[in-house]
Amino acid sequence: MSNEFKGQVAIVTGAGAGLGRAHALALAARGARVLVNDLGAARDGTGDSTGAAAAVVAEIVAAGGEALANTGSVTDWDAVQAMVAQAQQAWGRVDVLVNNAGVLRDASFAKMALDDFRFVMEVHLMGAVHCTKAVWPLMQAQKYGRVLMTTSSSGLYGNFGQSNYGAAKMALVGLMQTLALEGAKYDIRVNCLAPLAATRMTADVLPEALLQALRPESVSPAMLVLVGPDAPTRTILCAGAGSFEAAHITLTQGAWIGTDALAPEQLAAQLAQVCDPAGQMVPGSGSQQAEHEVPRALARLAGG
Ligand SMILES: NC(=O)c1ccc[n+]([C@@H]2O[C@H](COP(=O)([O-])OP(=O)(O)OC[C@H]3O[C@@H](n4cnc5c(N)ncnc54)[C@H](O)[C@@H]3O)[C@@H](O)[C@H]2O)c1
Repeated sequence: MSNEFKGQVAIVTGAGAGLGRAHALALAARGARVLVNDLGAARDGTGDSTGAAAAVVAEIVAAGGEALANTGSVTDWDAVQAMVAQAQQAWGRVDVLVNNAGVLRDASFAKMALDDFRFVMEVHLMGAVHCTKAVWPLMQAQKYGRVLMTTSSSGLYGNFGQSNYGAAKMALVGLMQTLALEGAKYDIRVNCLAPLAATRMTADVLPEALLQALRPESVSPAMLVLVGPDAPTRTILCAGAGSFEAAHITLTQGAWIGTDALAPEQLAAQLAQVCDPAGQMVPGSGSQQAEHEVPRALARLAGG
């Protein structure tokens, strides 16, 4: 086993159970000192217990590693700042942040209470924003940082009953896209991981036979690659049961339709061509849409 995180400090949120626990153990096994954060909440985010984080710290220490427990909520900006200060005071730096804490409050959109929509956004999106905001200046100052957002196939592709969760998870992809650009000159790399694992979060969503095959530990290799010294940036990996894939936000070649009065009818007639994935690209930033559209329009206009 490599020791590639030796001397590094990692914070893993929601690391008292499920995927976060597997990630914390994997980082510690490769030499990282790990701050194990977990509120100890129920699956819907209610309640708290100090036991979850402490138990994972005990596991790491028993295996010869170094870890600290933190029971703050990622929704609480003051608690998040205290968590980062705790890691910095103990170990002097923060190299890796794995934003993993999460909750579910599923309901079809028609039946969903707005409070449940807001709460899920608050934990997944603002929780990751808080933790990333708190480590960002340290990572800028040390000119090194690795930040991982935990997204989901429910956000990337949709899932019935998870409009709140899907919206929050896709928002994290948007957060990654810009933070990767802003972090580049400080060697801060930002990536997303869409896991699939048997945890209490999927206990009643996936069939029993499949749950047996989906150990959280089988997702952690993707996490290690995405926060390691040689990590890519702006990469979305999917991982489950030993399989790994990439998800891309693409732009098709599309078509120049023009702006005259019949543009809606012409667009409708050419919609299949506009949506055709042949020749699609993965833009390096949002400005690539303009770089694609403006010259084509100018060429058409110049040609009469
Ligand atoms: N299990 C999957 O198949 C799957 C699929 C896609 C995405 N995810 C994502 O992976 C992450 C981990 O999920 P899991 O399946 O291990 O679920 P889990 O419920 O086992 O773990 C989530 C942990 O987050 C903690 N937590 C909840 N709210 C918190 C808060 N405000 N502050 C700090 N900690 C908090 C919980 O106490 C819990 O220990 C989540 O972001 C989840 O959305 C999981």
